[in-house]
Amino acid sequence: MITNLRGRDLIGDLDFTKEEVETVLEVAWDLKRKRALGEPHPLLRDKTLAMLFFFSSTRTRCSFEAGMAQLGGHAAFIESKTTQIAHGDTPTEIGEILGRYFDGIAIRHCDWGLGNAYINGVAKASRAPVLNMQCDIYHPFQCLADLMTIMEKKGRDLRKKRIVVSWAYASSYLKPMSVPQSLILQMPRFGMDVTLSYPPEFKLMPEIVEQAQAQARKYGTAFDIVHDMKQGFEDADVVYAKSWGPLLTTADPAEGKRIQDQYKDWITDAAKMAVAKPDAIYMHPLPADRDIEVTSEVMDGPQSVVFDQAENRLHAQKAVMALTMW
Ligand code: CP
Repeated sequence: MITNLRGRDLIGDLDFTKEEVETVLEVAWDLKRKRALGEPHPLLRDKTLAMLFFFSSTRTRCSFEAGMAQLGGHAAFIESKTTQIAHGDTPTEIGEILGRYFDGIAIRHCDWGLGNAYINGVAKASRAPVLNMQCDIYHPFQCLADLMTIMEKKGRDLRKKRIVVSWAYASSYLKPMSVPQSLILQMPRFGMDVTLSYPPEFKLMPEIVEQAQAQARKYGTAFDIVHDMKQGFEDADVVYAKSWGPLLTTADPAEGKRIQDQYKDWITDAAKMAVAKPDAIYMHPLPADRDIEVTSEVMDGPQSVVFDQAENRLHAQKAVMALTMW
């Protein structure tokens, strides 16, 4: 078990080695067991986490905040609009100053072309670890919870199991591409074959796809790209279908919405789930556009693991905080 994670940032999915992710999972399961038993685990007593949000959240905010309290510490919820960031506080100043007040800085900044650069700017100046609560490129804590959930449902040896990471239609807004990018980077390291499926205008970042393909080559797994939702679902063990914006095709939200609206049939429904393996699980990080992105029949059906997935955010994040912030 690799244990020297104290003081480390987690910004991109590959920042932790495979062995370090395995350590995170071991600790996460131990903390999940302790919580189930009502066993106190104040590993971060008197420690504090700054949670800086540039974008809304339900699960991420609540699970980090509850997690810090369960570890005996405190999390401060900070919305960027209530700070002096708009009046001139730079990423360096935020890193220098919050890094002196807090034992960790967690940031959500999803703006395309800005978020990841901002988080790295803070990390460069911070003496405390910086944790990425989702940026424009990665959503590493979601991905750790997803990996944990897949192992709970499919076993710890995921070799020869296939995940389809599929685009799905949404009408609400152009969602970040961080979740699919994190999934395609992390899952090959744990032996999963990956099928990435999207309409042509919804490409992921080429450098991320190249890194994911390199991971697949390194770990001897398959990596395929298709442009048909139902084809992508064929024989999948794990169906992970969610929307993201056509951000590499257009930066204009109105044009992006027009492109997106051409693909309303990219909905996860029972007919598409029927071509996956009979014991396939359905995953979504939430929030989903119900009956647009996925039917309620699938979302509330027996193959859906979305609530276990959401719960595991708590345990995975507590594990990373306990390993990095002491
Ligand atoms: N999945 C996820 O990150 O949820 P929130 O946007 O509600 O935090």
